[in-house]
This record gives sequence, structure tokens and C-alpha cells, in this order.
Amino acid sequence: PRVIYITRHGESEDNVAGRIGGDASLAPSGVKYSKALARFIDRRRLEFAVEVEEASHHASGAATSISASSTPGTCSEPEAGSPCPEHLRRYRRYRRGEPDFEVWTSMLKRAMETVEYFDPQRYHVKNIKSLNEIYAGKCEGMTYSEIARDFPEEFEARQLDKFYYRYPGIGGESYADVVLRLQQVIVELERIRHSVLLVTHRAMARTLLAYFMDIPTTQMPDMELPLGYVYACEPRPFGNFLRVWRYDP
Ligand code: G3H
Repeated sequence: PRVIYITRHGESEDNVAGRIGGDASLAPSGVKYSKALARFIDRRRLEFAVEVEEASHHASGAATSISASSTPGTCSEPEAGSPCPEHLRRYRRYRRGEPDFEVWTSMLKRAMETVEYFDPQRYHVKNIKSLNEIYAGKCEGMTYSEIARDFPEEFEARQLDKFYYRYPGIGGESYADVVLRLQQVIVELERIRHSVLLVTHRAMARTLLAYFMDIPTTQMPDMELPLGYVYACEPRPFGNFLRVWRYDP
């Protein structure tokens, strides 16, 4: 089955300083996460790489040979000489030139830098502005304690209704705004048939996970989603299945 992987960017210089928003680069710890993430996804894709190599080797009528793949966990053991339907479907998509895996990031440096170690020959990376972090308007670049000190009423209003609270200043957003902004990304994720890794930000990851895992908007803005976790949503006929991995530095 295809998988929608969701992760936050690696730790940035602003994360280290406790500042929200902005467009900081990765801290050294974030660079380490980027390397680990590329290795992790490579391993998860290994099975398909084997399949594609076989497919390109047998340029025509390769269905039988790719069905001979015995990679565990990908499909049930095919009967001798008969192609596995899942491999056959994937092989046909591959022959039509459709991607089997894409990497989508926001257009903020910390997210784009998090995919720097993905091999450009094997990964198609798209940078999508709608995946940018919630925009904090006047509070961009501040720490939470600075916001509480300089804009106490705003700070309190956000505590009272985090989903609908919109940050002050031009372009300031609420979680409700973010849900709207992500709609086109979600429509595209529903349309495509291949796996995707989304490298994005805390508010975005909350919104995407809430959509795929049916989490109510009352809980979504407070979901704990630390840095260094990969969430994998696997669409199943009766709801999505979630797996979670934690980066162990
Ligand atoms: O503002 C940036 C944060 O990553 C979003 O988290 O909604 O819990 O403040 P927050």
C-alpha cells in the first residue's frame, strides 16, 4: 500500500533559541536528523528499488520476472509463474513514467535543508508554499514568553481558543486558516496513488495528521508532535493505519 509519511523539519537555530516562525537554517542537530531521515526513507524504499531495477532490465514482458521478487512484507508469495497483482500495478505505473515516491517540503529553509541528503537522481522533491508553517504575524521570531510579556491579551486569547485565534498583523493566521490553506495539498494527496514524504512544520503536521487520522479540531492544535518523529499514514479500506518512528540520535 502507499504511505503518506509526515515529519517536521530537523531542529533549526530558532528552535534552539525557542523562537517561533522565521526562516532560520538547521542547527547541527537538525543536519544530523536530515541525514538519518534520508537513510530511513531509503531503507523503506529499498523494496521498490529492487522491483524497478528488475523492470528496467526486462524492458518488455517483465511482469513474470518482477513477480519473482521475494522481498518480505510487500505482497503475498506469488504462485509460480503468475505475477503478483500489486507488483504488476506498480510496474505498469513505472512504465507509464508515473513516480512511485515523492518528497514534498514547505518553502522555508529549515524544511528544504532537511531533504538535502536525498539523492536527487532517485527522489523528486517539490517545494510547496502551502506547507509553510502557520504565520504568526507580529509575533514572528518571538519566544512564547516574549509574546506573553509584550502582547498579554493576545497570548491569553490564544490559550482560550487556539483553533480560531488568528495572530495579529498582516498575514497572521489561525489554525482554521491553515486548514483552508492545506485543502489543495490534501486534495492532491488523495488524488495521487504513490507514496509521499511531507517535510513540514508543527502546525502543518498537526493539521495533516488530524485530517488523515480523524482527530477533532478541538484536540488538534494541542497535539504533542515533537521534532524527530516520522508518522506514516497507510490508507486502508476502513480508515487509515498510523505507524510512528522516533529518531534516536
Ligand atoms: O508557531 C509555530 C509553532 O510550531 C506552532 O505551534 O501552535 O503550538 O504555537 P503552536
